[in-house]
Amino acid sequence: MSFELIPHKLVYGGEALGHHQGRTVLVPRVLPGERAEVEEYRTAKGVVHARAVRILAAAPERVEPPCPYFGHCGGCQYQHIESQFQATTKREILRETLRRLGKIDWRGNIPVHAADPWNYRNQAQLKVERRADGNVALGFFEAESHRLFPVDACLILSPRLNGLLRELQGPDWSRRLADSREIEMLADDRDEHVAITLRGLANRAEGEALARDMLERLAGVVSVGVESEGQLRVFGNPRLDYVVGEFQYGVSPGSFFQASRHLVPDLVNAVVAEQTGRLALDLFAGVGLFTLPLARRFSSVVAVEAGAKEARDLAANARGHSCDHLRVVTEAVHDFLRRFAQMQPDLVVLDPPRAGIGVQPLKLLAALQPKRIHYVSCGPPTLARDLAYLAGQGYELKSVDLFDLFPQTFHIEALACLARRAA
Ligand SMILES: C[S@@+](CC[C@H](N)C(=O)[O-])C[C@H]1O[C@@H](n2cnc3c(N)ncnc32)[C@H](O)[C@@H]1O
Repeated sequence: MSFELIPHKLVYGGEALGHHQGRTVLVPRVLPGERAEVEEYRTAKGVVHARAVRILAAAPERVEPPCPYFGHCGGCQYQHIESQFQATTKREILRETLRRLGKIDWRGNIPVHAADPWNYRNQAQLKVERRADGNVALGFFEAESHRLFPVDACLILSPRLNGLLRELQGPDWSRRLADSREIEMLADDRDEHVAITLRGLANRAEGEALARDMLERLAGVVSVGVESEGQLRVFGNPRLDYVVGEFQYGVSPGSFFQASRHLVPDLVNAVVAEQTGRLALDLFAGVGLFTLPLARRFSSVVAVEAGAKEARDLAANARGHSCDHLRVVTEAVHDFLRRFAQMQPDLVVLDPPRAGIGVQPLKLLAALQPKRIHYVSCGPPTLARDLAYLAGQGYELKSVDLFDLFPQTFHIEALACLARRAA
């Protein structure tokens, strides 16, 4: 059954929220203030989930989505919104999430760092589906599903990765990919060189032959990892070199690295700028994006990373930059904090996955009484929860920045800087 709705705001996740007959309604691809005819398709926990049938009166911020797959492919949620408005909307969502979930009434500015809103992704995880004729379809999952949506091109992917996406679906490669489940690609900072990780190819000999052919015949591909049954074999260069500012990071196939290429130098600068001192901790360090610049600024740095691949890359990157005063700990942050006893680090950088750091590790961290904490977050709700805890432990929020690393999507990356109040 359809009804008219005028939503009043966008919420984290990409949908617009409105009310109808006393019930909360969420609907994708409708803007605040628009009059839309929508129809209910599901109710969960008292919230009506609806789809838009027609836009009856459009908002001035609405634009024509340039991608033909928009609305089907699950990758983008905001292509119907003018770019500037996307960024300011994310800022308001961040502010409101801090207030609602963290009881943090941040009245200060939230500067938005933005760059080219297209062709920015330096990384893709392409899903693979075998077709009846033995060729494959490559693409991304549909929204809220594990059904593949095939794509020939993607407007947020870098030019180099779009070229590979096209080529891999061509006659030279398609059939040979039929036994793969996923193809991950990471392009370097210049969008020249690429590392590919093939997942799910069980036949070792076929995997190796495919990897070697890719290295020989796919322009720009310098490294191919074949991951199967928990084992990774790497052909070509063991690592892709990615330059950010004055540092070069080696990244193994499948290691975590930031997936948006334009704003990474700004993010690093914002995290480390004006920071110096005796001791810094970099928790959830990855391959050392923040660790290496921190090592230039602090007498001693401890970097903690649970992923074995990332930690190996981090150690190699530290050696490459002669960082003798940097210690890499391959361990979960919680376990590390249970036994770490050096009090009052000058700075702790936190960059956890979307789940946040969590209250138990935060308790241990707060007990060390770091002077400053720079929290890089890709999940506003967990950031709000963790900041609320730190506020109760004597930490004052000094600044909040938003890095719009993923335009056209609902994703929000934020940097919150905190300082310990004087006793
Ligand atoms: C969002 S990434 C950030 C990496 C790095 N700071 C960067 O910007 O490239 C989070 C990292 O934390 C690691 N990780 C996830 N859970 C962890 C845990 N409990 N303890 C330590 N590291 C963890 C992941 O392997 C990943 O490298």
